[in-house]
Amino acid sequence: MLSIIILAAGKGTRMRSKLPKVMQPLAGRPLLEHVLLNARELKPSSIIIVYGHGSDQVQDSFKHDKDIEWAHQTEQLGTGHAVKQAIGSVPDQDRVLILYGDVPLISSEALEPLVNNTSNELELLTAIVPDGSGYGRIIREENRIIGIIEESDADEKVRKINEINMGIMCCRADQMKTWLNKLKNDNKKQEYYLTDIVSLAVKDEIAIHGHKSKIWEESMGINDKSELAKAERLLQKKLANQHMEAGLTLMDPSRIDIRGSLKHGEDVYVDVNVVFEGKVELGNNVIIGPNTYISDSSIGDNTTIHANSHISDASIGSDSEIGPFARIRPGTDLKNNVKIGNFVEIKKAVIDDFSKVNHLSYIGDTAVGKNVNIGAGTITCNYDGANKHKTEIKDDVFIGSGVELVAPIVIGKGATVGAGSTLTKDADDQKLTLERSSQSTIENWKRPKK
Ligand code: UD1
Ligand code: CA
Repeated sequence: MLSIIILAAGKGTRMRSKLPKVMQPLAGRPLLEHVLLNARELKPSSIIIVYGHGSDQVQDSFKHDKDIEWAHQTEQLGTGHAVKQAIGSVPDQDRVLILYGDVPLISSEALEPLVNNTSNELELLTAIVPDGSGYGRIIREENRIIGIIEESDADEKVRKINEINMGIMCCRADQMKTWLNKLKNDNKKQEYYLTDIVSLAVKDEIAIHGHKSKIWEESMGINDKSELAKAERLLQKKLANQHMEAGLTLMDPSRIDIRGSLKHGEDVYVDVNVVFEGKVELGNNVIIGPNTYISDSSIGDNTTIHANSHISDASIGSDSEIGPFARIRPGTDLKNNVKIGNFVEIKKAVIDDFSKVNHLSYIGDTAVGKNVNIGAGTITCNYDGANKHKTEIKDDVFIGSGVELVAPIVIGKGATVGAGSTLTKDADDQKLTLERSSQSTIENWKRPKK
């Protein structure tokens, strides 16, 4: 059986943030969530998170994840001390894998060899990096690992070593328990270092098996905002590649950001500077224009989103055109063959097949039927200062330009509303309804002069 302990109690002083380090967002998810997703892929029998700093924020964010056990570390006395807070609940015969909440880029493929070796060895994940600054260095003697020296305790010679400790290790729980009890804090930081168990294993003549990570970038530990930004770019590059392998056409893979999960059909084309957030689903033959933001929405087949549109919590059907410069707000449900043009805002509205809102309009809390044409500058006046009211626009309605519909109001089937009208009462089916003062001309009027 495998148990996984994730260390996430540190404050992350170098982040200079109220948000605990492991809650800092990477590709739209907390660092800790990335580690957790990888951990789950190894199908462990238990996952224990050691928490401490910002405990409310950390626990709250994962409160629906019933597979997590929590171990509280009241004082952050080091990574070894942290593991000690959790190891008590791990059965002696289990293998235990330690993951760090601030090392989020590691793939589960890199972890598998550590976990799969069921001998009594101590398994370590290391990486050869161009610059090891800040990391614990792997000390080898005749190629065998004999210890890890932390940056702060390292001399010039050790600092030159470019094989680093990724912070990830795996061994039998009973061995780990024995070693943890022997840890001392006689180092520069006066912390109980987990890394010191390596020299204890050497003393106990337990073989140490170092696995060198194939992709060294995955070893990145994230301690400050600049490392966070670097990791974000690395991950975005990887996500862009994964989507391109699955057939997504990206105009420029370095100018797309996926902060959550993106699903797409065949022949989908994404132009530059597009941000996807949360859960987004795109059908077949969807085109996303440049500078567009889409969050938690689905878009049907053959629909084009033109440049500079902003779409959130919406469902958009097939064969439709949105934007440029459209704002589609939460609760919007656009059926098929719908057209939403420039500078149009739609909120909590259902718009049925073949209907059009082409220019400069606000449609909120509204049900629009089929084949409706809404003229430029139409506004649904849905708010009286206290309550929101509903507008209903039935099938085949034609609304002229510059119309205000004061809700609650119903525009009957096939009705025509004259341009410039402010309607406060329902409009009858099939008739022309107008609200307009009659036009007059003042004969002898003179324009004032300066
Ligand atoms: C650690 C390793 C270092 C390794 C590097 C990889 C030790 C002593 N050093 O250094 O060899 O190269 O990670 O990124 O292990 N934490 C707790 N409780 C504590 C202290 C830390 O839960 O008392 C957690 C932190 O939240 C963090 C992780 O452990 O998620 C690592 O701690 P951090 O202080 O960042 O260690 P590094 O100095 O980066
Ligand atoms: Ca770290």
